Amino acid sequence: MNYTRRKFLHTAGLTAATGLLATNSVLGSDLFWRKNSNTLKVGLIGCGGRGTAAAVEALNADSNVILTAMGDAFSDHLDNSFQTLKEKMGSKVQVPDEHKFIGLDAFQKVIASDVDVVLLAAPPAFRPSHLEASVNAGKHIFCEKPFAVDGPGLRRVIEAAKKAKSQNLALVSGFCWRYHLPKRETFGKVLEGQIGTVLAAESTYNTGELWYKERQNTWSDFEYQLRNWLYYNWLSGDHIIEQAIHSLDMMQWALGDKLPLKVTGSGGRQKRVDSKFGNVYDHFAVVYEYENGLKSYFSCRQQENTSPSYAVELVGDQGKCLVDCRTGEHIITGKEPWKYDDSTKFTDDKSYEKSESRSMYQQEHDELFASIRNNKPKYDGDWMVRSNLIALAGRTAGYTGQTVSVEEVLDSNEKLFPDNVSWDMKHSIPVAIPGVDTVI
Ligand SMILES: NC(=O)c1ccc[n+]([C@@H]2O[C@H](COP(=O)([O-])OP(=O)(O)OC[C@H]3O[C@@H](n4cnc5c(N)ncnc54)[C@H](O)[C@@H]3O)[C@@H](O)[C@H]2O)c1
Repeated sequence: MNYTRRKFLHTAGLTAATGLLATNSVLGSDLFWRKNSNTLKVGLIGCGGRGTAAAVEALNADSNVILTAMGDAFSDHLDNSFQTLKEKMGSKVQVPDEHKFIGLDAFQKVIASDVDVVLLAAPPAFRPSHLEASVNAGKHIFCEKPFAVDGPGLRRVIEAAKKAKSQNLALVSGFCWRYHLPKRETFGKVLEGQIGTVLAAESTYNTGELWYKERQNTWSDFEYQLRNWLYYNWLSGDHIIEQAIHSLDMMQWALGDKLPLKVTGSGGRQKRVDSKFGNVYDHFAVVYEYENGLKSYFSCRQQENTSPSYAVELVGDQGKCLVDCRTGEHIITGKEPWKYDDSTKFTDDKSYEKSESRSMYQQEHDELFASIRNNKPKYDGDWMVRSNLIALAGRTAGYTGQTVSVEEVLDSNEKLFPDNVSWDMKHSIPVAIPGVDTVI
């Protein structure tokens, strides 16, 4: 997109009339979209479950947005995603066959296809290169979590995020709870001191096991691993980074995004030991120690038939705060008790849609697109990389059995993900053994 058009998109906004026309069935046609110079064009990179949902949310976020390019490593994934999106979003999906890109270089082709906004939702290890390329091409970005699986990758993300900011590009992260309005209100109160000085915190992400794809004869080793990316730490980062990072991010948020001084942890694989589960652990427990003696206790597990828990609890010198993602509770007790009560905000049947409990995933895109329209690009870059660093430090402490600092984890030259990936490559990293694998 050239500068003139970008400026126009930023400053012109949408008139009410255009918004109405876009929803009109006659003018909601291919011709309407192609002729409309104020249209924001979106490219999706990584067309799996999350990427497909993110595309729906992007298309719903603004009445003048269309999807024009898609990229995935696998054609079957892209085809399924396209089918779903076409059924759900109709004429807002304008992806001709020549804009459906398959392969490990698909991201470059999506980015080069004259899109304004990219949605990055491939497996985490690819994020540094996908983010860098998006920023270098001047795109606004929705970037799913996590952002990197190792120190070298995270350093690239930090640099790319800084560049996005300096170029006035939007960078919205997939840390969806930060877009959940009840949590904003609750943690906002904690940050304003409603429970006094926070002395201790606990966060959990304890859940069952996830999907597995049986190997097909035609798949190379790399294809098999990539289709089962969750189980390879060089692709996913391990489940503390890939999944449980949501709890760590909430904890960090409530503690003011301060970095800890020391990180100590343990972990292992006890139940999910079959080689089909690659090299990831199935449980971690980590203690983060901050200045002034504040300690934060974190645990996560992916083990079937175990008690679930997905919550953050904060203990202050004047009260306590509980946020439970499973029950939906947002409760403050102590000197100034309070509880989030969304029901009081509903005035009629339809008002839930407009209520503060509206989907956090939709909220991410509503804020992203509104920020582009208003020429105030939303930027999550600073705190999103800190939360990734916390998770990386927790994994490093668990893998090595050493007490580590976030600085040494960020400075680490240990690279899990190779620079060059190809379909015929063979890559394997043994399961880490604390006290034996002590490289940070
Ligand atoms: N914020 C959330 O609540 C949330 C929820 C689920 C997933 N996620 C994150 O979203 C990302 C995707 O997760 P998912 O559940 O959609 O997984 P998925 O396996 O369903 O989708 C990933 C897609 O990326 C494709 N892909 C693989 N390598 C690629 C490459 N090099 N270039 C382009 N595409 C590639 C895969 O073929 C697949 O279609 C992960 O980072 C995950 O952690 C976030």
